[in-house]
Amino acid sequence: MMAYQTIFTELSEGILTVTINRPDKLNALNQQVLEELNQILDTIYTDNSIKGVILTGSGPKAFVAGADISGFLSVSSAEGSVLAKKGQDIFFRIENCPKPFVAAVNGFALGGGCELAMSCHYRIASENAKFGQPEVNLGLIPGYGGTQRLTQLVGKGRAMELMMTADMIDAAIAHQMGLVNHVVPSEELIIFTRKSLEKILSKSPVAIGKVIAAVNAAFDHTKNGFNEEIKLFGECFGTDDMKEGVTAFLEKRKATFSGK
Ligand code: COA
Repeated sequence: MMAYQTIFTELSEGILTVTINRPDKLNALNQQVLEELNQILDTIYTDNSIKGVILTGSGPKAFVAGADISGFLSVSSAEGSVLAKKGQDIFFRIENCPKPFVAAVNGFALGGGCELAMSCHYRIASENAKFGQPEVNLGLIPGYGGTQRLTQLVGKGRAMELMMTADMIDAAIAHQMGLVNHVVPSEELIIFTRKSLEKILSKSPVAIGKVIAAVNAAFDHTKNGFNEEIKLFGECFGTDDMKEGVTAFLEKRKATFSGK
């Protein structure tokens, strides 16, 4: 794997932990972090030894405290759109990755950090995690998919309120809203997230990839989700994984999936 300056990667038993590592800036997403995320995504998509991904932030304080605000004053309107498009494209690659991506939110997940967590397939938070889309404080709006994904995850009214008030919410409220699936003590965050992923990795990787594609189709206006489900369901019948899963059930043994 390549050497990165702003992210750490660690591969263990098929699970790649990607840690955003700019703790002195609360892991804010500058262009280098985004570029390195994009590069590690190339590896995640192509490297067969990577089966699933945990995305987290370094240090005890922040997951990611947002896009890096320090360069914003020199950005023109046209350049702003380019920035949003670039970020959105990378986050789409996370969302549409056929391998499971879980965010382990270990502190502030604000602005682009909340958007990054929302691009993952689901989120697990530590008790000290804080979420928010505070862009209106800066005369901005979310640009990395936040207006869309927050609305999908918590509903229109709550999303509107969060984005218009810029309020920060704690992990318990985020859990209540459905923004995160579980809240655990900080010291258990990575272990808990790993266990969750390990369970997924014991299933058919082909089927997991198709669950991701089918659920995402519900939010893709260019697709009919039900038709997509019919197509993906049918495809399963042509896979070794389906033959193995069904055979193992009938033979009353545990399935060993090849992912083919
Ligand atoms: N972009 C650039 N730098 C950031 C940043 C961001 N989004 N968030 C934090 N930082 C930097 C701070 O400037 C500070 O750098 P410095 O030590 O060189 O001055 C460092 O990270 C630590 O942050 P600090 O603000 O001192 O920590 P805090 O505990 O007082 O406050 C926050 C934490 C998260 C409440 C605060 O940093 C914050 O509001 N950040 C911006 C959040 C935001 O608006 N994000 C949306 C961006 S679109």
